[in-house]
Amino acid sequence: MSDLIDEIKQLKQERKAIILAHNYVRPELQDIADFTGDSLELSIKAKNAKAPVIVFCGVRFMAESAKLLSPDSMVLLPNSDAGCPMADMASAEKVADYKATHPETVIVAYVNTTAGVKSHVDICCTSGNAEKIINSIPLDREILFLPDRNLGGNLNRKLKRNMLLWPGFCPTHDRVTPQMIETARKLHPGAKVLVHPECDTEVVALADEALSTGGILKFVRESPEQEFIIGTETGILHRLKSENPDKKFYPLKPEMLCPNMKKITLENVRDCLKNLTEQIELSTEVMHSAVKPIEEMLSRS
Ligand code: 13P
Ligand code: SF4
Repeated sequence: MSDLIDEIKQLKQERKAIILAHNYVRPELQDIADFTGDSLELSIKAKNAKAPVIVFCGVRFMAESAKLLSPDSMVLLPNSDAGCPMADMASAEKVADYKATHPETVIVAYVNTTAGVKSHVDICCTSGNAEKIINSIPLDREILFLPDRNLGGNLNRKLKRNMLLWPGFCPTHDRVTPQMIETARKLHPGAKVLVHPECDTEVVALADEALSTGGILKFVRESPEQEFIIGTETGILHRLKSENPDKKFYPLKPEMLCPNMKKITLENVRDCLKNLTEQIELSTEVMHSAVKPIEEMLSRS
């Protein structure tokens, strides 16, 4: 493995590349990345990256967002199969249709959407800034939130809004049930329950906090508590454990994995730097229109 890592370091230098990684990807990728973070943190890094090559270890919509924010950089997704099933639950055609027939409705897209969808929406949000973004929209405006019905429903409840919800969901987070929280609390009484807001509203209501992955890391870092039940993709445990060696973490569900977030391997990263594949390429039209809701989000974050 160390030969492979040396090879990656060498190629990275030759290509003047930076490696960005999401908090869910394999630990060995988080370890070689220049920066690991949540969707919002990674968007900001991608915007400010001056590197000619950005290797994105995450899923396709994240690499597409990086390309939109750094159009002059070459953005590489090391495994072209790494997609997001939730993002694929909203098609650009359907969203364009909705926009055409409901011109008064503000369309808010979670960043977990394709660049094609983003080119038809008004503003994006991540789980890290969603409350701020929704609060910035006047109360009398009708809002369509897409594609995550769970994140949208959780925001509706917390912010007392009545957004219309697209029927999408994350297969990894949607499988968490209220019973799992009750069982985990019995097993680890006193531990704080932290879940991701892509979980169902009943699950979120039973948790202590619902936070983005970056929010979970920050909460644990700053908390005086010692034990935490973690209700999100288990890739986050790598950073949680290395940043907080004295604290204890219990996954809410041991097999809580996003298969797509696990697709990229060290070999893929080496090969993508060697062969410069797969480059994210978007049409000029999509580049022009899809960046607007992301820039709008960053200006209100
Ligand atoms: P965050 O890291 O922004 O919380 O997003 C989680 C996620 O589901 C990414 O797919
Ligand atoms: Fe998509 Fe869910 Fe995987 Fe995130 S965890 S990439 S929302 S399927």
